[in-house]
Amino acid sequence: MSNQILHIESLTRSFETPAERLVILDSLDLTVNRGSKTVIVGESGCGKSTLLNIIGGLESPTSGKVIAGDYLVNQLDEKELAQYRGSFVGLVFQFHYLLKDFTALENVMLPAFMRGMKKREALDRARMLLTDVKLEHRLDHYPAQMSGGERQRAAVARALINEPALVLADEPTGNLDPANARVVMDILFSVVSDYNNTLIMVTHDQNAAAMTDTCYNLKNGKLVEQ
Ligand SMILES: Nc1ncnc2c1ncn2[C@@H]1O[C@H](COP(=O)(O)OP(=O)(O)O)[C@@H](O)[C@H]1O
Ligand SMILES: [Mg+2]
Repeated sequence: MSNQILHIESLTRSFETPAERLVILDSLDLTVNRGSKTVIVGESGCGKSTLLNIIGGLESPTSGKVIAGDYLVNQLDEKELAQYRGSFVGLVFQFHYLLKDFTALENVMLPAFMRGMKKREALDRARMLLTDVKLEHRLDHYPAQMSGGERQRAAVARALINEPALVLADEPTGNLDPANARVVMDILFSVVSDYNNTLIMVTHDQNAAAMTDTCYNLKNGKLVEQ
């Protein structure tokens, strides 16, 4: 197996607006090794979410190549994309997107159950992951009954339920106060290490940038190593 989990070549993403052609990502290259942790920083509006969404198969590039594991992400049809998103990547966003009518345990087990895992097994795995993110005392709580930090920790557990090779986190602590941000960041790094996932994270959090092997600044559509 190659040591590379992600290879991006000449990735361009532009938007046609009535006034001009906005080039957000400009012939960007990136290679990420299996098991590594990559942090991407950059000014608001520079294209961080666009880049992460393209890697996660949520948006299409204008041109360029995105290879993740055995997937040629930029060439997948809808069905293959669904498979890729459901099994290869795990996503954590700034907003938790937990379903309000489901408990923490149900929210975390759902993606596994929906992919065909037996309910018992999905529940066991969800319980284990919620314990990993230190929410073993919040299994039956609904999102409204949890703090912001707890909700993000549940979102981290949910992102890991289908054993994704690649975890993509887009400002996962962006809505939290510094103390809670620190807790969520520490937990995210530690579970990703425990399960040998690869992490690519966009953040404004300077602590996180210091916690990783590789940090890039996204600037003028390209990644500059820091
Ligand atoms: N559909 C669109 N049409 C035109 N511009 C867009 C569209 N979607 C995003 N953009 C622009 O792309 C830029 C990058 O957005 P984004 O990736 O969300 O930045 P970041 O996550 O770094 O804050 C922004 O300037 C945004 O306005
Ligand atoms: Mg963003």
